[in-house]
Amino acid sequence: MTTRVLTGITTSGTPHLGNYVGAIRPAIAAARAPDVESFYFLADYHSLVKVQEPARVQRSTLEIAASWLACGLDPEQVWFYRQSDIPEIPELTWLLTCVVGKGPLNRAHAYKAAVDRNHAEGVDDDAGITAGLFMYPVLMAADILLFNADKVPVGRDQVQHIEMARDFGQRFNHLYGEHFTLPEALIEAHVATLPGLDGRKMSKSYDNTIALFAPREQLKKLIYSIVTDSKAPGEAKDADASNVFQLYQAFASADETAAMRAAFADGVGWGDAKQWLFERIDAEVAPLRERYETLIAQPQRIEAQLRDGAQRLRTRYATPTLLTLREAVGLRDLSRSGAVEHKAEIKAVLPQVKQYREADGRFYFKLVRGERVLLQSIGFDSPKDAGARIARLKREGADLLHHVSGEGVHLGEELLGKLAEDAAIEEVLGAVAALAEADA
Ligand code: TRP
Repeated sequence: MTTRVLTGITTSGTPHLGNYVGAIRPAIAAARAPDVESFYFLADYHSLVKVQEPARVQRSTLEIAASWLACGLDPEQVWFYRQSDIPEIPELTWLLTCVVGKGPLNRAHAYKAAVDRNHAEGVDDDAGITAGLFMYPVLMAADILLFNADKVPVGRDQVQHIEMARDFGQRFNHLYGEHFTLPEALIEAHVATLPGLDGRKMSKSYDNTIALFAPREQLKKLIYSIVTDSKAPGEAKDADASNVFQLYQAFASADETAAMRAAFADGVGWGDAKQWLFERIDAEVAPLRERYETLIAQPQRIEAQLRDGAQRLRTRYATPTLLTLREAVGLRDLSRSGAVEHKAEIKAVLPQVKQYREADGRFYFKLVRGERVLLQSIGFDSPKDAGARIARLKREGADLLHHVSGEGVHLGEELLGKLAEDAAIEEVLGAVAALAEADA
């Protein structure tokens, strides 16, 4: 089975070496693995929460798209798109908004931190806080749930958001049937966090970054400006305590790293160490930089690529999924009554329950409609036991909706069986309703 891996990049800055080592490079490598379907998108709706300068949003979107493409992302192999090209995302955001509790949103780290800052300053708790910041986790959940992502590679700061997406998905599933896969965060333990120029984690918010595609001369200047201790050439230096060394390690092979470690012990001067570091980074980045410059000079090509990705993705997944979800919540064609039937021809065939005995000596039933199996029961000890469950299914079948979980279909506390792989809960409900009606 293929695993769906999805991640978003907020379009609020210029990619730096920390983004490259921590996100871009591992993501592109991971997308080449067999049996994964990868989704990488530019989270431009999210960027509006932080950035209200239109030109910066546009510029950042272009730079990030060009950076990922320059680093080898292949839009023929992965889904590469811009969030705001998929109107189903904000539509799903609303459907989720209506089932999500306000309480969990109050407890989201980013929102809580903003409230705490206001508190400390003695102003109103919500002063200057937009509803966008508050709703951020719901939009993010929609990004993830819309495509039934299994794994979401993110930094540690985003783990709470993934947990919230699981909760929101579960809540929706509980109310409306098994629509969403519950995603898991993927935190790459072996991916380094790069130190920035001042030794703290490289981050835009600390203003200590080295732009990924800074021109060669500027890259050199930035690297020479990395803060070090004042040990003189000839004095032994502690590699593990040095940000110059850590940066080098993120780009160098094991042998190169060992050689650098030895040089530190031998008292290499900071100037020389920085020169090596610069040459090593530039060796990896220079060919990418050249591609980047070509790409960014043709924004119309990137625009077309993004639109094409979004269009194909909508046709393949987003649009049909939203149709199903709209049906599920009751935004339905008024001329049809009752539960969902996707195909008119299915509707014409009456559902049936078939009882049978298996080689294991137990008694089973399945709910079928024509050739289609919708529900497969667990085994029961006697035909009478199976029959009692069938009667209950007909009587209380409408309650099935509330008792669907990952392991199977339940009625009350009782496990009845499993949904067929290709069946939707709406279809089962429709069939059960039809059965009850036929009996009446
Ligand atoms: N919030 C994420 C960040 O700041 C970006 C993002 C938006 C995202 N939607 C997503 C990441 C969906 C993973 C999945 O890094």
